[in-house]
This record gives sequence, C-alpha cells and structure tokens, in this order.
Amino acid sequence: MKSTTITREDRTPRKVPPPASSTGEVQGFEHVQRTPIALDAGSALSSVESLQQLMADTITLRDLYKKHHWQAAGPTFYMFHLLFDKHASEQSTLVDLLAERVQTLGGVSIAMAADVAEVTLIPRAPSGREDTAAQLERLLHAHEVILLESRAMARAASEAGDVGTDDIIVSNVIRIGELQTWFLAQHVPGRVIEIDAERGA
Ligand SMILES: [Fe+2]
Repeated sequence: MKSTTITREDRTPRKVPPPASSTGEVQGFEHVQRTPIALDAGSALSSVESLQQLMADTITLRDLYKKHHWQAAGPTFYMFHLLFDKHASEQSTLVDLLAERVQTLGGVSIAMAADVAEVTLIPRAPSGREDTAAQLERLLHAHEVILLESRAMARAASEAGDVGTDDIIVSNVIRIGELQTWFLAQHVPGRVIEIDAERGA
C-alpha cells in the first residue's frame, strides 16, 4: 500500500523561490518617492523612517497579542482569550493605518515577518507558552516601548510640518496604546501606583 506521508523531499521543491520577475523590484525598501502632497522631501523621509520603526513594533505587538490569545490558560482563560484578541484586532487596524501612511509619503512599507524581526525593538518572545503574569508583563513592556518612541516621533513630525503623521501617531497609536495599557495594568498588582506615595509625599 502506498504511504501518504509527506516527506521532507516532497516539501523541498515548495521552498524553491519562484523565478525572479523580469522587472525585479520597482522601488527599493530604502527609497522614498516624491508625491504631490505639498510636503517637504526631508520631512517625508524622516517620517517614513519613524513610521517603519513604529510599524515593525506595532506588528510585533499585534503578533504578541495573538500568541497570548491562543496560549491563554487557567482560571482567567476566557477573559484574557477575548481581551487579547480584541487588542490584537485594534493593533491590526493601526498596522494598516501606518502602512498606508508610509505609502502616502512615497515609501515602501515594511511588511514581512523576517524584515519586522530585524527592525523591531521589542524583545523576542519564547516559542513556548508563558503564564498569564509573564504574558501581561511582556505586553506592558511592548506597549511602553511603542508609547515612548511614539511621543518622540509625533513631536518630530509636528516640528517638521508633517501634521498628518503627527495626527495618526497621536490620535491612533498613542491613544489606543494608552487605553490598552490601562486595561492590562489593572490585572498586574503594583503596576498602578499612587504618584504621591511614589514621591514619598
Ligand atoms: Fe481566535
């Protein structure tokens, strides 16, 4: 009887990349085209650079939320399974907004996992499952990385006259990030502290 097992040899041909197209890349990743949006080229270039970093980190945060959505377990399973998925979906919307801002500014948006892994500033999560406390800490740290860079990037975009990018970062990335952080922090003892008590007043 013929075995139906798929062997490594069977899979190998699928790993061979398709032949390169006759034209190749029509715009390199590092290249930014001039677009008629009445924005200074230098401002567009520096915004694209910021947005690529923000994209890589937002994609990573979205993927972290999905990982924890799938790997939730224990007495709080149902609550976190749903909460993490809601946040993942909101982060996914942000990824699309950021990617289309990069394209609007004439850039080529970062897109593939391998490129994202090289660029992101969020530490790599283990492949295995972590417990709920570790999942929450990892997510809070990722949010903090994004919020810190977002505030600096929004300020730089605003000073460079790119108020469109400033608006997307402030109205979407920062506001959603802060809101999601609020939801997570309620579940972590010690993460919400009295400011006066912290100052010793
Ligand atoms: Fe799901």
